[in-house]
Amino acid sequence: MSSQLRGRVLIVDDEISNLKALKKILNVEAFETIESIDGTSALQKFRDLSPDMIITDYRMPEMNGMELLKAVRQFDQNVPVVMVTAFGTVDDAVEAMKLGAIDFISKPISRKALLKVVQDVFSRIRPKPNTEQSEDLIGNCSQITQLRRTIHMVAPTKASVFIEGESGTGKEVVAKAIHRASDVSGELVSINCAAIPENLLESELFGYERGAFTGANGTKRGLLELANKGTIFLDEIADMPTSLQTKLLRVIENGKFYRVGGTKPTQVELRIISATNSDVQQLVEEGKFREDLWFRLNVLHFQLPPLRERGADIEYLADIFLQNAAVQYNKNGLQFSKESIMLMNNYSWPGNIRELLNIVERAVVLVDGFEIRPRDLRIRYQELKAKSVGGATETVLSELSGDDLRFPMGTSLREMEETVIKKTLDALNGDKALAAKILGINVRTIYRKLQGELKKL
Ligand SMILES: Nc1ncnc2c1ncn2[C@@H]1O[C@H](COP(=O)(O)OP(=O)(O)OP(=O)(O)O)[C@@H](O)[C@H]1O
Ligand SMILES: [Mg+2]
Repeated sequence: MSSQLRGRVLIVDDEISNLKALKKILNVEAFETIESIDGTSALQKFRDLSPDMIITDYRMPEMNGMELLKAVRQFDQNVPVVMVTAFGTVDDAVEAMKLGAIDFISKPISRKALLKVVQDVFSRIRPKPNTEQSEDLIGNCSQITQLRRTIHMVAPTKASVFIEGESGTGKEVVAKAIHRASDVSGELVSINCAAIPENLLESELFGYERGAFTGANGTKRGLLELANKGTIFLDEIADMPTSLQTKLLRVIENGKFYRVGGTKPTQVELRIISATNSDVQQLVEEGKFREDLWFRLNVLHFQLPPLRERGADIEYLADIFLQNAAVQYNKNGLQFSKESIMLMNNYSWPGNIRELLNIVERAVVLVDGFEIRPRDLRIRYQELKAKSVGGATETVLSELSGDDLRFPMGTSLREMEETVIKKTLDALNGDKALAAKILGINVRTIYRKLQGELKKL
């Protein structure tokens, strides 16, 4: 089996002993490894050696795992990145998911957990028939229907659009939709202001003339020029340094700017769409974002709703994602169990649509059989718990489990106990601590009662 799963894994950890341990486990299973002791060298090796996946420690001096992930995503949207986090740091894990990590492993790493994750990854790496996931703004809820209408109304006006919304709510999808609907001859050019180092941002946007700085061996056109007659999408605009904010304001006012080191102004005509998930109003109040620029960018304001507020859309989108993934991975006839749908409806979706897409796709790949059950979704149950205050936990649970348990006369108490515990764990995605709380026993009792059974859960 392992020879068929061979692949190349970049492992990153600042502790050599950890690297050695990971390497050994992976090599024995015939995975090739590339090792790095810090983020910077990892990034270099990633670019030079094109590994199939990356496993990185989260906590590292200098560049941490999350920063590495962000940097990698600048070059490659798809390479699977697995984050190794200290046990119990759920926030880190959620954050990593939002940024496109596909999984995480808790420390201390067990051989079994590591191999499972790696094998999952390699069983799903295959040529993607359609990398351009979903170009369309899918959704049936009133906010999205209204949004689609507004887009079509305002697209031809060329007015600046400001899109606000939590991570993964579809800001980029909306920007693309506006550009398409505006029917202009130019391109949509995107730049992520948070991902590009401050000192490079200016030359990226405005371009430069030969000799403007060391290394400027020729003239380079900036993104604003490339977007001429089209649209520039300034993502994470809140991270634009103030000096550039001033220059951008001038471009908006008269359509002119100078390349770095240039003396002749360049004239452009374009629409500006900007997006952020920070509270810009507050940044303006704190004096960190120019108010006059904000007024100019914010002519039309789009507020994207978080997924948890989109009601029936959760199920609607999940179904579409399920169908798409089923085609992509050649698994027909899949559907969600009733409990899974309830779980999805009760979850808070901190990573919004991106998270839903990831979770559904992962479930499709991993599921055995035709029904996707709660545990296949591997939703971070802690999030659900956070949502259920007080007695609401029980309500969530009863919704989750749906059907009552029935036992024929003559069933032993022991068997009943076992079934109840197993069903509860199943509904809770294997969360033993919560199961114990709900059942009114302690975790140790769960282990004791189930013994060998637990391993299978
Ligand atoms: N309405 C939608 N219909 C279908 N897919 C969507 C929709 N909105 C978002 N998506 C998908 O969800 C993922 C995240 O969307 P997008 O990148 O636009 O989010 P974002 O708000 O820009 O996130 P971030 O703040 O992290 O940059 C993408 O894969 C996108 O295709
Ligand atoms: Mg985005």
